[in-house]
Amino acid sequence: MAITPMPALVLAVATALVGCSPSRGPGQTQNGTPVAGRWYSTQQVQDGRDVFGVQCAQCHGAEAQGVTVDWRQRFEDGSFPPPPLNGTAHAWHHPLTVLLQVINQGGVPLGGQMPAFADRLSDKDKLAAIAYFQSFWDDEVYLNWERMGGTD
Ligand code: HEC
Repeated sequence: MAITPMPALVLAVATALVGCSPSRGPGQTQNGTPVAGRWYSTQQVQDGRDVFGVQCAQCHGAEAQGVTVDWRQRFEDGSFPPPPLNGTAHAWHHPLTVLLQVINQGGVPLGGQMPAFADRLSDKDKLAAIAYFQSFWDDEVYLNWERMGGTD
């Protein structure tokens, strides 16, 4: 079947593109050393630690590890607890555009508890917050995220 080799080929091409043009990813407009194989820079991770600590950590945990209750178990009001963002839940199913959308809109439109950050954070800070929680993802999770769309 000609179909079988396609995903590998697409991935190889995508990897080659990322490798050849580091200015391609949305995070690469920032200064700072790019983190090897990732769309963001070390500077963004540092900035993101501050943003995350102030805006996100009270719900998602200082190291994006989530809260102590099971994030898959609804509260009595039907909403979900804040999930971990450190790669152990399913944030890696969402490409960068969707992660930004969640942060912009929050969970309220879907009956959730997360506030909307569209007008509360600059895009630079939103991307930095994403860079920060993605810095906890190991390479396997990150690679799977790229397969799910990543920065496309
Ligand atoms: C008041 C608590 C709260 C704050 C503050 C908060 N979140 Fe959330 N977040 C949630 C909850 C709860 C969910 C699950 C969806 C829902 O119910 O709204 C969620 C979901 C998410 C998701 C989707 C994860 C997935 O696996 O689909 C992302 C990404 C996220 N938050 C990022 C952030 C970032 C980045 C910040 C800070 C800028 C932040 N959140 C601040 C409560 C919060």
